[in-house]
Amino acid sequence: MDKRYLEYSAVVITGGSSGIGASFLTFLLNLSQKVLICNLSRRKPKLFEGKERCYHFECDLSKRELIEEVVPKINQLLIDQMPQGKILLINNSGFGEYGAFQDTNLSNQLNMIDVNVCAVVHLTGLMLPLIIKRGGGIINVSSGVGFQPTPYMATYGATKSFVLDWTLAIREDLRDKGVRVLALCPGVTQSSFFARAGFSPEKESRQPAEEVVEVAWKAFEADKGFVIPGFRNKVMICIGKFFPLCLLTRISGMIVKRFRKSK
Ligand SMILES: NC(=O)c1ccc[n+]([C@@H]2O[C@H](COP(=O)([O-])OP(=O)(O)OC[C@H]3O[C@@H](n4cnc5c(N)ncnc54)[C@H](OP(=O)(O)O)[C@@H]3O)[C@@H](O)[C@H]2O)c1
Repeated sequence: MDKRYLEYSAVVITGGSSGIGASFLTFLLNLSQKVLICNLSRRKPKLFEGKERCYHFECDLSKRELIEEVVPKINQLLIDQMPQGKILLINNSGFGEYGAFQDTNLSNQLNMIDVNVCAVVHLTGLMLPLIIKRGGGIINVSSGVGFQPTPYMATYGATKSFVLDWTLAIREDLRDKGVRVLALCPGVTQSSFFARAGFSPEKESRQPAEEVVEVAWKAFEADKGFVIPGFRNKVMICIGKFFPLCLLTRISGMIVKRFRKSK
């Protein structure tokens, strides 16, 4: 891992305080001690303690006005502290809520759309002029559930379908602009995600977040459009493509319904 070279001089990441985002930070800091990193989340990443060139911007991404406030500060910091080199944007923040839609909290569902969808579009839109100018890349964290409708996580699944489709589409829009774009579609991964979402899939089925990040990075370096970490996840998603959509949705619901509620 240490032999690899990070061709990005600066990284802007969301959700570096936990799970997959924290693993991305560890991975990137292992690749380069010189990289400048800006993190947006509500909590400061523990990893940032005592680290130079690691800047935390406290930001609740469900609030558009906070994104508008923070991004100019980030852009200015990038221009002042790291005026040259490619910029990598990792849209990772996100959360889910388990349960039949009618039993979920509507305000939480709307917040989820704000964080998982609106903030991704908003942050990307605001950062893109500088990324295009200097060259760079974007990794958007979707999910394996983005490939089909997901009963008992209807809104979450739909937000991740949006992220997958949108990422693949902007990848084409940006094809001649020197910006590499990847959608990362993890399956069940070890993180705080399930505690917040209120359900608990078997611990054995959870892939380590470090492994997910390794796979993501290889795919990003190879300029893939999307990547599904884990052989089992890949196979399940491929098989799903052979089923009619309504039947696939039924099966997906039967699988997700088995996960017991953790609260
Ligand atoms: N774990 C899985 O099985 C799995 C599978 C597929 C996809 N994913 C996706 O992977 C991404 C990372 O999730 P994770 O599994 O690492 O879960 P996690 O450990 O719960 O981390 C979620 C991250 O999102 C941030 N976040 C949540 N709400 C936010 C808000 N309102 N504003 C700013 N940041 C917010 C959190 O930061 P703060 O709390 O500090 O704000 C945290 O750093 C998510 O997009 C998730 O949908 C996860």
